[in-house]
Amino acid sequence: MIVGIIGSGAMGAGIAQVIATAGHKVHLLDKNAQALERAQQQIRKALGKMSSKGRISEIDVMDISDRLHFTESYQDFGDCDLVVEAVVEDLQVKQNLFREVEMIVPQDCILATNTSSLSIASIASACEKPERFIGLHFFNPAPLMPLVEVIPAVQTREGLGEEMKQLVQSWGKTPVLAKDTPGFIVNRVARPYYGEALRLLEEGTADIATIDWALTQFGGFKMGPFTLMDFIGHDVNYRVTESVFASFFFDPRYKPSFTQKRLFEAGYFGQKAGRGFYDYREGAITPEP
Ligand code: NAI
Repeated sequence: MIVGIIGSGAMGAGIAQVIATAGHKVHLLDKNAQALERAQQQIRKALGKMSSKGRISEIDVMDISDRLHFTESYQDFGDCDLVVEAVVEDLQVKQNLFREVEMIVPQDCILATNTSSLSIASIASACEKPERFIGLHFFNPAPLMPLVEVIPAVQTREGLGEEMKQLVQSWGKTPVLAKDTPGFIVNRVARPYYGEALRLLEEGTADIATIDWALTQFGGFKMGPFTLMDFIGHDVNYRVTESVFASFFFDPRYKPSFTQKRLFEAGYFGQKAGRGFYDYREGAITPEP
């Protein structure tokens, strides 16, 4: 199987690594050459780490690297059996991109989106053949997180959900079928979690480090909500909240926070930008609980 992946950011690079490790040839595309370069370095580093821990051999590293092809051109997608899109969370961008992709990929190539919150039906509606369209929602970091939500749209052909579940399983992941509702399963539950943490902060109940500390020490979470939002990226996380809020007809349970909106507007996207709720710049003093 040959898989095209669009967007070589946090998710696209991770998904490419998973699929190439599972034995498929991968074309990883980005419109930004620097993003491609970063993805290449990130994957190289991750594979090196796996090999030094003895989880894969040096030959595996070479084989996986050989199966990965980095490109800026959709023309390379002519031989794809599956395309997975992981670009910015914006309906119009995703719809335009699939219009372009459909002109190049084979007639039976399956098209998938990694969207966190947009309706799969609305992205599929831009396609000439929406029956081959489906949601495949990975979690961050994709090589480590086992869960993948498989989300058929109303237009998706009967049986494609099951086929994708089996394929995802063959990649060593744990698929779960979900209906095409805003936020699917995990992001739906996660919205009020982030929202309540942000409200605690805005009401002055406790500061970010204390809330993170309490939830990791006593709540059993691996990361506190503010560390997690910084890790996901406020550009992604804020947009997802806005999208879920609007999709639920402005139900106050999903109301976005001004505090996070300001970080988003300032470009303080979190770890990847060096600043978010915490300061990740070299020499910066981040708050301690
Ligand atoms: P990111 O910002 O790290 O990467 C997006 C990449 O897409 C960038 O490298 C950008 O240059 C590229 N791009 C943007 N427009 C493009 C276009 N028209 N053609 C080609 N490349 C283009 O974003 P991230 O975090 O990887 O998210 C991507 C998608 O995955 C979003 O839909 C997001 O909602 C979803 N997602 C994100 C998760 C997260 O924790 N960050 C988790 C699960 C899903």
